[in-house]
Amino acid sequence: MTVRAVLRLGDSRLREMAQPVKDFGTPQLLELCSDLKDTMEALSGAGLAAPQIGVSSRVVIFGGGGPNPRYPDALPVPLTLLINPELKPIGEGRSLGWEGCLSVPGLRGQVERCNRLRYCGWTPEGEWFERSVEGFHARVVQHECDHLDGVLFPDRLHTPQAFGFIPELEQSGMIPMVPS
Ligand code: NI
Repeated sequence: MTVRAVLRLGDSRLREMAQPVKDFGTPQLLELCSDLKDTMEALSGAGLAAPQIGVSSRVVIFGGGGPNPRYPDALPVPLTLLINPELKPIGEGRSLGWEGCLSVPGLRGQVERCNRLRYCGWTPEGEWFERSVEGFHARVVQHECDHLDGVLFPDRLHTPQAFGFIPELEQSGMIPMVPS
């Protein structure tokens, strides 16, 4: 069980283009995946990308567990490790949703994302897979894969007014109260 420190907005390592994984099933890659899982779960994150723990590799993890208390209306997303991902939007539909990030603690902002997409990539053992997803699952994948290109959700704010600290946004009725 290794919970790694999560880099925060302003750290230049979050802005790098992460490198593709070339060797699958290696002890190094499996340890990275295990650390990502432990860290995401310890912090109750919806997802986590390798650059957020200071590793410049195209590896993301998301989902798992029950409903996330921060996203009470979302359908459960299966626990997924996704390596060298590629995303393809399906259709033109886009919608606004509130996002947070373990690298931007305490803040939420409204971001427009594709509603539906197809994603593909590799498992840590080197098996290729693909899925078509929508809604919250699609949003999480887009958010996590952005990290691999050095992009964080505040870069994609719908408007600077729809951004702020969670208690203040709750107080002003912009986001629903989250049970703590
Ligand atoms: Ni994030």
